[in-house]
Parts: sequence; structure tokens; C-alpha cells
Amino acid sequence: MSDTKAKFEAGLAGVVAGQTAVGEVTQTSLRYRGYEIADLAANSTFEETAHLLIHCELPNASQLKDFRHRVQAAMNLPKQVTDVVDAMPKSTPPMDVLRTVVSILGHYDPDGQNNAKSANLGKSERLLGQIACATGYWCRRMGNLPEVKPDPNATHGFNLLAMMTGKKPSELAGRVMDGTLVLYAEHEFNASTFTARTIASTLADMHSAVTGAIGALKGPLHGGANEAAMHQFLSIGKVDNVDNWFNELEAHNKANPTNKRLIMGFGHRVYKNGDHRAAILRDWSLQLSKETGQKHWIDMADRLQKIMLDKKNIHPNTDYPAAHAYYQMGIPIPLYTPIFVCSRITGWCAHIIEQYENNRIIRPGSDYIGVPARDVQPISKR
Ligand code: CMC
Repeated sequence: MSDTKAKFEAGLAGVVAGQTAVGEVTQTSLRYRGYEIADLAANSTFEETAHLLIHCELPNASQLKDFRHRVQAAMNLPKQVTDVVDAMPKSTPPMDVLRTVVSILGHYDPDGQNNAKSANLGKSERLLGQIACATGYWCRRMGNLPEVKPDPNATHGFNLLAMMTGKKPSELAGRVMDGTLVLYAEHEFNASTFTARTIASTLADMHSAVTGAIGALKGPLHGGANEAAMHQFLSIGKVDNVDNWFNELEAHNKANPTNKRLIMGFGHRVYKNGDHRAAILRDWSLQLSKETGQKHWIDMADRLQKIMLDKKNIHPNTDYPAAHAYYQMGIPIPLYTPIFVCSRITGWCAHIIEQYENNRIIRPGSDYIGVPARDVQPISKR
């Protein structure tokens, strides 16, 4: 597209690439269908938020009961899927397992190739149940442990935590897990959602779009940052090491300007003055530490946060406190990004449905920087 006059922006920064009624991100707020995230985090369960995203409104009590019933009915993977999962090497990264599982689930879904809205609403609900189930299933299999079935009376977050750890979580831990699912559920045109919308814009099916989105979420600059942030805390070790650790990293970056190391769990394309979700989750994690006796993670995180603010004016994002909250819950680190999938599946499905409803194939231009036009020489002259 060499005759394009549009200005190229690296990483599409600042480019408005579409319209959406699902979520609104500004420098100072995050809203799901008009509701502020702090309000939802304080006053809704994840299942209520999931209903809001998929069905456009918060449910009343009877709508919630029916919705939970349908989602829980899907928390049972087809045998054809568990057979494939059981054959995977135990070293398979859980994000890769989920990517494969969603792809295979498409083969067995009764509406796999049906792009009608009613079919996509049903698939969204099934994927919500199936992905949580697959996350729990793989977590247990990694540790050679028996599968744990969900409790029909518990929240989605409580069940997800129990299905991974095999233990009945404390009320607080169940609530914090459910709350993190609310915080992670939607974030307008982030990389994975944009991937899902791009795939949907070709009129490919929902399972294809979600499979692609999982691949996009896996990377450490996006969803993979919660795992990377925990590895970072572990490598720092204790609060007294934070300053040295930071100074060494800065020295490395000064000496290697083309190979700089990032501080994981910090920075955001939009929130230059802080990510509201991070502050909410940091407080929940602090509450959790009173139960677990692991306040040292929050002390370490707070110290690094202060240095990053003082020296670089960069704020933490949600993945930063998610790391120490999940660690305190006893969840294996490779499962942190899959938990993000268990939540963001709702935002992805809402966006996929919205894309189909008002579709034009997503096909941007590019700024050609290769060799100028030239003629093909006969092979004897090359
Ligand atoms: N550590 C060190 N320096 C950073 C960091 C960081 N975490 N984040 C940004 N910077 C620097 C960046 O290198 C750049 O410096 P310079 O101008 O010298 O090149 C400057 O700050 C401005 O960066 P930016 O343009 O604001 O960054 P971006 O919008 O291109 O990228 C980001 C945003 C989130 C990918 C990036 O901040 C990053 O890589 N953070 C670490 C990974 C991470 O925590 N990702 C989670 C993202 S939020 C939730 C999610 O998607 O899961």
C-alpha cells in the first residue's frame, strides 16, 4: 500500500482501530458497558460481570441463576478432548494446552461453525465453563493429582481456585480470586482482543478467534506478564535486595542500550498515571497476606513500585499485584496467565459478537521500507 498517506505509528499507538460498546479505557477510568471497574469489583461477582459482558446487562437474580446453571453445565470436558489432553507431555505450557483445547472444543461444539448471534451467545457461555474446567484439569494433571469437580453452589472464582489447588479455599481467597476475574475480564482493543476481532472480521468461527487470542495473550508483554512478575519477585528474594536489584538492572540497561531488560508488571500503553485495577488488587493481596503470613511479597512489591515511580515515573499494571496474590493462594506460576484466559474469555466473546454484528474485514495498510521497484533478471544473469 505504498500510496497510503496515513501516518505510521509504531505499535498502532494512539490509533483508533474501531468502535466498541463493550469497554471504555481512558487515562483515568475503565468501564465495562458503562460501569466503573471499582464499582463492579466491589459490588458484583465475576459471573454477574460475565453476564454483563456477554449479554450486555447485569443480571437479575433469576437471570443469574439460569446463566450460572448453563455455564456450570459446560464445566465438563468431552472425553475426546480429555483424551487429547491426557496424551500431551506434562511439560506442555498450560497456555499452549488451553490454545489447543479451545481449538479442539470447536470440533465438538454443536454450533462450532454457526456464526449466528444466538449460537455465539451459547458458545460464549460454554467456553466460559470449559476453559475454567480445562485450566483446573491441566493444573491437577501437571502434578499427577486427581481432577476436582466444581461445587454448584460456589462462585466461578472459588471453583477455579479449588479445581486448581484441590483445597477448599478460605472465603477471602475465593473472593479475591473471583475479584481478579472481574478485574481481568475486559480491556477494549488490547492485543489479544484485537487479534480475536481481526480473526472474526474474516467471518471465521468463534473458536478460531479465541484460539488466536490465547496465542496473543501468552506473551510476557501482555498476559504473560503476571507470571514474569512473580519470577521477578522470586529472583529479587527479599525487600532488602530490591534497591541493589534495581541498580544492577539499570547498570545493565546503561551498558546494553540495544538489549534493555524490562521490569515486569510495570507500564501500560494507556494508563500513564496508574492502572486502577492494580491498586484494588494490591489491597486485596494485602488482606490475603494477613491470612497467609506472606506480607513480605507486598513489602517487596511496594518498595520496587516506589523506586519505579521516583526514578522512572512508571506505574505498576494489574499483572504486578496479581502475581503476589496468586502466589499466596498456592497456585503454580505457569497457571497465572491461564487464569487471565478464564476471565478475558468473556471480553473476547463480547468483542467477537460485536465484530460480527457490524463487520468490515480488518485489513490495515503498511509503510513499505524495502528495496525500490526493480526488474526480474533471467536466472542466467543473476
Ligand atoms: N520496564 C522498564 N521500562 C519500561 C517499562 C518497563 N516495564 N515499560 C515501559 N518502559 C519504558 C520503555 O522502554 C520506554 O522507554 P524509552 O522511551 O527509553 O524506549 C518508555 O518507558 C515508554 O514506554 P511506552 O511507550 O509507554 O511502552 P509501550 O506502550 O510501547 O508498551 C508495555 C507498554 C506494557 C508493553 C510496556 O510497558 C512493557 O513492556 N511492560 C512490561 C510488561 C508488562 O508488564 N506487561 C503487562 C501489560 S498490562 C496488562 C496486560 O496486557 O496483561
